[in-house]
Amino acid sequence: MNNLEQTLSIIKPDAVERNLDQEIKNIFLNNGFKIIKEKKIKLEKNEAEKFYKVHETKPFYNDLCEYLSSGPILVMILEKENAVLSNRELMGATNPKDAKEGTIRKKYGISIDKNSVHGSDSKENGKIEIDFFFKN
Ligand code: CDP
Ligand code: MG
Repeated sequence: MNNLEQTLSIIKPDAVERNLDQEIKNIFLNNGFKIIKEKKIKLEKNEAEKFYKVHETKPFYNDLCEYLSSGPILVMILEKENAVLSNRELMGATNPKDAKEGTIRKKYGISIDKNSVHGSDSKENGKIEIDFFFKN
């Protein structure tokens, strides 16, 4: 029962640009997440490339890194029971078109690339991603 976890969440440039960050933060809070740390930053392209290194062989890698570094993002450590899975469910499918009703990507996502939020996909990657942004 007790499986308190942390996960990394990013509100991506398309959502920050539309001033949706407070609204999306409220969705996390209303769904039982605690926001342990947060910061608004703008990445350099080489930092986005490092963050998304797992996708470096994918055809969309360059555009993805250009996009993530195109404007301010809000990075957060979220905490909850089963935070990783719970956040993925609340975010919805990668393509907003496929995301279920009530999910963040369904509500705010514009397209598969501008899908408003990032969330860690495993507990292990959550730790790596949290360190990436918050370890000094
Ligand atoms: O973000 P998520 O874990 O749901 O998806 P991913 O497969 O890890 O892909 C990372 C990000 O790359 C996605 O959130 C999309 O913004 C982008 N992407 C894309 O632009 N085109 C694709 N065909 C797949 C992903
Ligand atoms: Mg992913």
